[in-house]
Amino acid sequence: MAVQAPTGSDPALSASPWWQQDAQVCWHPYTQHGLDPQPLAVVGARGAWLELADGQRMLDAISSWWACLHGHGNHRLVAAAAAQAARLDHVLFAGCTHEPAVNLATDLVRVAAPMAGGGHSLQRVFYSDNGSTAVEVALKAAYQYWVRQGEPQRTRFIALDGGYHGDTFGAMAVGEPHPFFHEFAPFLFEVVRVPPSAEALQQALQANAGQVAALIVEPLVQGAAGMVMHPASFLQDARRLCDEHGALLIADEVLTGFGRTGSVFACEKAGICPDLMALAKGLTGGMLPLAVTMASEEIYQAFHSPQRERAFFHGHTFTANPIGCAIGHASLALLHEQQTPARLDRIGAWIEARLRARLGEASGVRRCGGIVAVEPSEDSAYLAAGGEELRQACRGLKRVLLRPLGNVLYAMPPACLEESEALLVADAMVEVLTQTATP
Ligand SMILES: Cc1ncc(COP(=O)(O)O)c(C=O)c1O
Repeated sequence: MAVQAPTGSDPALSASPWWQQDAQVCWHPYTQHGLDPQPLAVVGARGAWLELADGQRMLDAISSWWACLHGHGNHRLVAAAAAQAARLDHVLFAGCTHEPAVNLATDLVRVAAPMAGGGHSLQRVFYSDNGSTAVEVALKAAYQYWVRQGEPQRTRFIALDGGYHGDTFGAMAVGEPHPFFHEFAPFLFEVVRVPPSAEALQQALQANAGQVAALIVEPLVQGAAGMVMHPASFLQDARRLCDEHGALLIADEVLTGFGRTGSVFACEKAGICPDLMALAKGLTGGMLPLAVTMASEEIYQAFHSPQRERAFFHGHTFTANPIGCAIGHASLALLHEQQTPARLDRIGAWIEARLRARLGEASGVRRCGGIVAVEPSEDSAYLAAGGEELRQACRGLKRVLLRPLGNVLYAMPPACLEESEALLVADAMVEVLTQTATP
């Protein structure tokens, strides 16, 4: 059979600009194509700014889904990617290894070292390629750890109300069912859900004594729930209670990792160390898809055996892709040199101060590091009626890209922002809130 020419060379289609062809051939994530307008046509990006096909520039105030850490097109990351692509683009990571993967794993173990304490530390790095799979790996490793320990009855996971851990089946199961996942209920394993309170967690652990494999949390900030924040003391209680009940603690730092909360990791800020930790997004500074699940040596050793069937049978084609790993190594060097967590914290403080100055102290602005959120009403449900209005007002902005979570408006910009740019973001948030305010 003859191979069809790519559609780009179809004269009928290529008569229109490429961004108009989008509607014919693309299916976008978390998009209702029956409602949402044509997507922004982005042709370039530098620093905090996206360059659109019509010549307009927009400040990426949400770091392109919370990933872009230092700014777009960072020359150190671009150089690392180019040099690595020319040397070794990809090789399977089963039975092979390479320097970028070893370098990045060594970096990660080093940056996680300050969290060690209370008999816990993260010593091993398992690579995958997105946040959801990093969570899947953590869930599978946690359960199989217990199987290897002779406790296969530990089949239950505890998760936080409103949690979001990704869109694959295990990640959906531990995530809040509404509004995204409830239709998949017949396929999802049962999860015990608790609010972020020590009492509720203790009760859940007691009620399921000896049956809990792990508690999974988004530490300090529950992103998709609407940048919902809980105090560090909850994480300290969670660590203690998991230890007391013999359950593992999984930290999903896919969003919070790499400085977003003002510390390298949210768990570090809370002074605790999890048994498993999922990282993605900022791992490559937001440039390429790469993820890791870090694990304690004890968990790794539970799989280490002369018996092949005790191995961890999980892997993805692009596990530890060398280009991603080289970028990750360069990104961590930048994070260290530029004190990225402190920078993000400062940017968050600028935005918070401006919002408070313009909206008043009672406006309910909340902040954790470089993440600043405000909600115009009590109802923060993702599909809340007010959320639609907020979404539309954000789309009307000319210079700042904001994308609300339901009724929650938030900013999480990259670390390269100048103060004037941070104020621009805050002013855009005020503009949106003013437009949608009910008289
Ligand atoms: C806390 C958390 N975990 C997991 C994920 C899933 O990551 P990915 O979209 O890379 O699969 C996300 C994505 O936003 C997240 O915020």
